[in-house]
Amino acid sequence: MNSAFLATLKQQQSSYTPIWLMRQAGRYLPEYRKTREKAGSFLALCKNPDLATEVTLQPLRRFALDASIMFSDILVVPEAMGLQLYFSEGEGPKFTNPIQSTLDIDVLKVINPEIDLAYVMQTIRNLKQELPKDTPLIGFSGSPWTLACYMIEGGSSKNYEKIKAWVYAHPEQLHVLLDKVSIAVADYLIAQIHAGVDTIMLFDSWGGVLSESAFGEFSHKYLAKVLTRIKLALPQHHIPSIVFTKGGGVWLQKLDQLECNGLGIDWTINIAKARKETNKALQGNLDPVILSVADRPAIKQQVTQILNEYRESNNSADGHIFNLGHGILPTAKPDNVAYLIDIVHELSKR
Ligand code: CP3
Repeated sequence: MNSAFLATLKQQQSSYTPIWLMRQAGRYLPEYRKTREKAGSFLALCKNPDLATEVTLQPLRRFALDASIMFSDILVVPEAMGLQLYFSEGEGPKFTNPIQSTLDIDVLKVINPEIDLAYVMQTIRNLKQELPKDTPLIGFSGSPWTLACYMIEGGSSKNYEKIKAWVYAHPEQLHVLLDKVSIAVADYLIAQIHAGVDTIMLFDSWGGVLSESAFGEFSHKYLAKVLTRIKLALPQHHIPSIVFTKGGGVWLQKLDQLECNGLGIDWTINIAKARKETNKALQGNLDPVILSVADRPAIKQQVTQILNEYRESNNSADGHIFNLGHGILPTAKPDNVAYLIDIVHELSKR
């Protein structure tokens, strides 16, 4: 595959800086909202391979994106393990039966992703048929820590008091849960690789809520475990991988020890500073809010700054995948998104 995104992730030269956007298929696009309505709900959309394929392709029809990401959600894994998931408008995801005791951990199902998440595998196989041949497909999962947060908190959380009660009072029981979730995550990603994804990404969205030592013990350790299990299962085909810990800019030296090719960074760390902490490819790091609130000159100014700081700190623009520092917001203006993608390509031409 002739792909600037894959070349950059593997630290090869590229003729420009590739760009894709976290949550590039989503509510900021009217065609997405229409398809979601047709599906009936967000979860029904995830579980319908034809419609999930359609919404994955929508942003690629509008914009010159350098990668696609299969349409799904990180929370389908805990659902397959036995937790009941629903999405309520305005409140985000919720589990009706969150984990409250060690018994709840014991009864979690060991998943067979080919069966329990067959609809995701079908979406991937559809996409491999329908994507332009040089557009790579990103598969993904939540990190064990981030999934455990939702499984114990029962939804989004402000202070993470429920899971932190386990961190500080029952760490050995939390480790049992994280072990189980790590196996599910690794097996899920292995199945995605068999179905045809070109790269995998681990979203450690809530790693940044931990102290440094707790991050090592409860998140980093299990990211490593997932990556090792995948490597052992597929010794002969190496699929490049990206790890994104939101808020992880302070721990890049530690994240650099992981067996992955790229690290995502949010917008809080300067990319030149990040470059000094790790040799891996870097993915980021524009503040997503800019696409909702700013105009073209401001976007151009921010893009120029990120590209220049990266190039100067690295002595070359290679090794940088442009992205947002977190998912795109529903209020993002499609015209701004189109401009962002074009200006990154234009300003980064070698
Ligand atoms: O990037 C893509 O286009 C692929 C799709 C994707 C979604 N969720 C679709 C989605 C991906 C990669 C995710 C990952 C995900 N889901 C994460 C990790 C990334 C991150 O943002 O930190 C997390 C934490 C979740 C859990 C989740 N799913 C939340 C908190 C929400 C509600 C957010 C909100 O803005 O309301 C979701 C719902 C969700 N996942 C939507 C989409 C497009 C919006 C649902 C809708 O259409 O109403």
